[in-house]
Amino acid sequence: MIAGFSHVGVIGAGQMGSGIAQVMATSGLSVTLMDTHGPQLEKARKSIATSAEKLRSKNLLTAEQVQRAANIFFEESIEGLKSCDLVIEAIVENEAVKKDLFSRLDLILPSHSVIASNTSSISITRLGSATKRPDRVIGMHFMNPVPIMKLVEIIPGMATSDTVLQNIKLLAATLGKEVSISHDYPGFIVNRILMPMINEAFFALMEGVASAEDIDRGMKLGTNQPMGPLELADFIGLDTCLYILNVMHKGLGDSKYRPSPLLIQYVDAGWMGKKSGRGVFHYK
Ligand code: CAA
Ligand code: NAD
Repeated sequence: MIAGFSHVGVIGAGQMGSGIAQVMATSGLSVTLMDTHGPQLEKARKSIATSAEKLRSKNLLTAEQVQRAANIFFEESIEGLKSCDLVIEAIVENEAVKKDLFSRLDLILPSHSVIASNTSSISITRLGSATKRPDRVIGMHFMNPVPIMKLVEIIPGMATSDTVLQNIKLLAATLGKEVSISHDYPGFIVNRILMPMINEAFFALMEGVASAEDIDRGMKLGTNQPMGPLELADFIGLDTCLYILNVMHKGLGDSKYRPSPLLIQYVDAGWMGKKSGRGVFHYK
């Protein structure tokens, strides 16, 4: 039991959900990972095993923690999350789809359970309003790759209770993460600042300022970032970057957040980045 949570459900077994399930399990919580797309669960099982083993080989996890990661339960229906004290949603960055899920979760979860969203940009207050427990809805925004990145942004909505905020802060600390608290404005802290940089890299590429390789080399070596902005966009997922920019553009009402037409074209072409094998760059 950590901060009153014992059984945690994670919804969406993509790159974020699988990482979140992994760190929750290795910290000693009982975890169920759910995705409507069955093959994604198998993919998640493999990526969790590979990641945990890699961390063990560097003495960052014990053999017992690797075993805990192997004990994660997998489910294709939200009914399998009925006994969870905490559910963390990490599905597609689409408000309508998330709200539909939140309203269905609200009906099946016990009244004490907390629903957290890993959303990159969407209003926690509005997600909470899709439930009858807005005081128990909160943003818990992990960074990619979850097992490596130190930060979790925590975003209370307008109605989130202070007890829930304190419990989620305690949970994040127990997972070994540092916390930044953000008010509930579009894009919160990290994406409010990161996405305009990524978007500007797409504008620079579209306008022929430089090649993709030169843009990334410039920012990587010129500003000491681990990845250039275009490689980072591919790593995050170009669809996710576009969703986030659209939320910020609409929610903040400022044309400086309008997505680059080139980014839109990549997504229209189905080139979502590393996860689809092709984005700005090609992947095996
Ligand atoms: N589990 C375990 N180990 C992992 C891992 C994972 N999920 N991901 C990477 N690693 C390991 C690699 O295997 C590698 O180990 P070895 O050195 O033993 O091979 C090590 O970490 C370093 O990785 P790489 O050598 O492949 O490459 P790297 O040195 O560039 O590190 C990185 C990879 C940690 C991802 C680094 O490139 C990085 O920090 N990139 C920027 C990431 C970032 O900015 N994330 C935030 C994105 S924004 C966000 O998340 C919010 C949002 O809403 C969009
Ligand atoms: P992803 O595309 O890798 O995975 C999303 C998963 O959700 C897929 O496996 C899909 O099958 C599943 N899914 C979709 N609708 C569902 C539903 N109704 N019920 C159950 N499963 C469903 O996406 P991701 O990159 O893991 O991002 C997930 C969330 O995390 C998004 O809100 C995103 O903004 C946020 N996020 C992403 C990053 C990143 O770098 N990619 C970082 C932080 C936060």
